[in-house]
Amino acid sequence: MSVAIVTGCLGAIGSAICAELRAADYNVIGLDRPADGAFAHGSYLACDLSDAAAVTHVLGTIRQSGVGAGLLVNNAGHYDPKPFFETSLEDFGTAYDINVRAIFQLSQEVARWMIADGTAGAIVNIASIAGKIGSPIVSYGTSKAAVLGLTRSLAKVLAPHRIRVNAIAPGVIASPMSNAINDAQMRTQLAMTAMGRIGAPEEIARVVRFLAGTDASYMTGSIVDVAGGWMS
Ligand SMILES: NC(=O)c1ccc[n+]([C@@H]2O[C@H](COP(=O)([O-])OP(=O)(O)OC[C@H]3O[C@@H](n4cnc5c(N)ncnc54)[C@H](O)[C@@H]3O)[C@@H](O)[C@H]2O)c1
Repeated sequence: MSVAIVTGCLGAIGSAICAELRAADYNVIGLDRPADGAFAHGSYLACDLSDAAAVTHVLGTIRQSGVGAGLLVNNAGHYDPKPFFETSLEDFGTAYDINVRAIFQLSQEVARWMIADGTAGAIVNIASIAGKIGSPIVSYGTSKAAVLGLTRSLAKVLAPHRIRVNAIAPGVIASPMSNAINDAQMRTQLAMTAMGRIGAPEEIARVVRFLAGTDASYMTGSIVDVAGGWMS
């Protein structure tokens, strides 16, 4: 059996992605920090992605259950809205551990399974418009820029193995993460958005399904803006 692994499955965008993939008949395994409460869109395994040993352990558990992976969606993200001069080196490292290193680690391991199983798979990374244009939240903006680079580089090394790697750059999407944006920043961001509204998690999820499937068979290394016409 082939599964779709989705990180950050309990969040706003992650749960919409899982619901969309389930509706498209994927077997979904969600990863997120340990949490109480039900996960309605497949199986859920608790894992703190900032802990590399925990990531290795949870991936081993999935692999030992005898499944392969056809799709990896690196959706989990860390947003700590501290201003630049209040951001410690440790804070900066945490943003990179979750937003970049975990994607590297998961992609490397899951791509190994795909190659071993002869699966023509897909990886979809959830980056951010902030990675393209910069952000006053420097740890976030730079780590999301790294996701764009990682996407393009992985696309090059994995294309010969029939694994496509693409990223979505969302604009402002309704979620607890965007609730952390202050009013002045939100006004500025909406002023730069041609459609003048924030997006819904489902509007990201539908693009994930497209990039994951055969309709996107000639796409790799692409960064798809889903941002309501963000102009900067
Ligand atoms: N909401 C937006 O406006 C927006 C805009 C651009 C990009 N994004 C990106 O979309 C993705 C999803 O964000 P969201 O808006 O749904 O936010 P969210 O806060 O609702 O979800 C993020 C999820 O990631 C999980 N996560 C964070 N750190 C983790 C860790 N160490 N281990 C395991 N899980 C962890 C959280 O538990 C949460 O469930 C993120 O990568 C985010 O950067 C969001």
